[in-house]
Amino acid sequence: MFEDIDNINQEVEKFQSNSLEEIEQFRISYLGKKGKITLLFGAFKEVPVDQKKEFGKQLNILKNNCQEKINSLKSKLSTNSNSSKSNTDYTIPGQPMNFGSRHPITLIRDRITNIFSQIGFSISEGPEIEDDWHNFTALNFPKEHPARDMQDTFFIQDEIALRTHTSSVQVRVMENNQPPIRTISPGRVYRNEAISARAHCFFHQIEGLYIDKDVSFADMKKTLLYFTKSMFGNEAKIRLRPSYFPFTEPSAEVDVSCTICNGKGCNVCKYSGWLEIMGCGMVDPNVLENCNIDPDVYSGYAFGMGVERIAQLIYQVNDLRLYSENDWRFLKQFSSETF
Ligand code: DAH
Repeated sequence: MFEDIDNINQEVEKFQSNSLEEIEQFRISYLGKKGKITLLFGAFKEVPVDQKKEFGKQLNILKNNCQEKINSLKSKLSTNSNSSKSNTDYTIPGQPMNFGSRHPITLIRDRITNIFSQIGFSISEGPEIEDDWHNFTALNFPKEHPARDMQDTFFIQDEIALRTHTSSVQVRVMENNQPPIRTISPGRVYRNEAISARAHCFFHQIEGLYIDKDVSFADMKKTLLYFTKSMFGNEAKIRLRPSYFPFTEPSAEVDVSCTICNGKGCNVCKYSGWLEIMGCGMVDPNVLENCNIDPDVYSGYAFGMGVERIAQLIYQVNDLRLYSENDWRFLKQFSSETF
């Protein structure tokens, strides 16, 4: 009898299957009504009294082993079949991809540089930490000019400052190239201003420069009109008001007809119908000379505009601070913008 238990135990241990039917068959033949183990329970009465206790114990162990074997074979089978069955539902609509967005200043800068590169302007850049010569002296700023004042300029050392405008790049381009020169220089500039909705201590400018033989004020006007129409639409008009910059003579301020009211008058243009967008002028002969370009042979024009200013007009954003606060509620509104 004990031998039967041993033999059946070995059979149970050996049994392997990965078919549900075979496992069920195995269960029936060992634990079913007429199963080998069940029958052994029936033979219990034939066991001598002094061995009954031990026999009962071993028989129970055998029954449990057998049940455990069946359970473990079944659970192995169900994990295997789960992994081979695909859970993917190919009919579910795709998840929308979260695309990043380009910064509005980048978008406007690229639009501006694109407009000028279409008419042959190259793109040039210069350092944000600039020396007095490139930022002021070569550009014909008199020594006592208020723009050199500690109020406006972030000085790093005596003669070194954060550039206050991208006009410094003009100087670098002219020092290193002979005309014809047609270039635009986008970049960040710094001024020592209290931060408010209307002013910031850093912002972006795009400088333009055209130097060649016989370049006239009329050439400049036509180029700026082309730019304005490309940027604001074909109905846009410009007007030039006399102004002063140390590095240009004559100098002008460029206004565009108000992009909001088309010149009729609204609170954005303060009911004037015009919005100021840039400064410009004919490059002062002193500047050409400072950069080793002969003013008797060459002439040229320059202009400079604020990227934030243009962005404000295009996007109707009133508060300058939004451009540098990295608030994604603001930035994500530009996510579908391309140019
Ligand atoms: N640099 C000037 C500024 O920051 C802008 C400017 C005016 C640039 C006239 C020019 C120019 O090249 O001709 O306000």
